[in-house]
Amino acid sequence: MSSAQAPAQATTRRSITAIVAATTANGIGINGGLPWRLPGEMKYFARVTTGDSPSEEISAQNALIMGRRTWDSIPAKFRPLKGRRNVVVSRQGVDVTGAPNTHTATSLPAAISSIPATAPRVFIIGGSQLYTASFARTPASSSETSSSTSTSSSESRPLIDRVLLTRVLSEFECDSYLDDFTSHTYSSGPSDSNNDNQKAVWRKASIEELRAWLGWDVQEENEEKGIKYQYEMWVLND
Ligand SMILES: NC(=O)c1ccc[n+]([C@@H]2O[C@H](COP(=O)([O-])OP(=O)(O)OC[C@H]3O[C@@H](n4cnc5c(N)ncnc54)[C@H](OP(=O)(O)O)[C@@H]3O)[C@@H](O)[C@H]2O)c1
Repeated sequence: MSSAQAPAQATTRRSITAIVAATTANGIGINGGLPWRLPGEMKYFARVTTGDSPSEEISAQNALIMGRRTWDSIPAKFRPLKGRRNVVVSRQGVDVTGAPNTHTATSLPAAISSIPATAPRVFIIGGSQLYTASFARTPASSSETSSSTSTSSSESRPLIDRVLLTRVLSEFECDSYLDDFTSHTYSSGPSDSNNDNQKAVWRKASIEELRAWLGWDVQEENEEKGIKYQYEMWVLND
């Protein structure tokens, strides 16, 4: 749980979206892969992250940032994820030789700052470690700012400002988990007071807000192979 202090002054940071599918127990993966096969949900992921009319020009395509294990989990024939810039984060180094439109970074901030401002949207697509790093509240720095961004009143806030969550309503055996970000709070009172002004970091947006952000219609409740799931969007509560 975050307990950082409330923001003191306005600043502008690049808008970054995490996209994830998680069970109600926040399970996201098993044995290095996904616990489920939901083709409709995969199509949603592809459409959201690619955009409806992706440019041929890489600098005008959306960017996807992923951890090295998530990169490894993508079958070779689907790698890199097409129509999007792929950025793989690894401390030890990862060989992406031969993968077009793909580069590597040694940290999440370095990955973000390596993406040109011309990329329309930036997504963090997992896995567990990368999501955790995304939720950590950090002070704004020049390496994370961009002129083509949303505004935020937070000086110290998560690296991401939006989460597209597919909530899978069946339970699956999992060994990778998403931080329970919906319960993250921060103190909204003065730093020297013992106040109870805990404020939720994240707010669940309405389905209409999700549709407006996507730019197309989407059904909130879905079912495939007897597995029910719903599309949600969470935004910073400030
Ligand atoms: N349900 C979903 O929406 C979803 C989405 C994506 C992935 N997943 C699942 O999540 C699981 C993988 O998650 P994971 O947590 O094991 O792996 P991960 O986050 O994909 O990758 C972890 C690796 O990324 C690098 N890394 C992580 N944090 C870093 C940081 N802050 N700075 C620099 N490098 C960093 C390290 O690479 P090195 O070891 O090379 O240094 C680390 O070993 C799989 O089961 C996958 O299928 C699920």
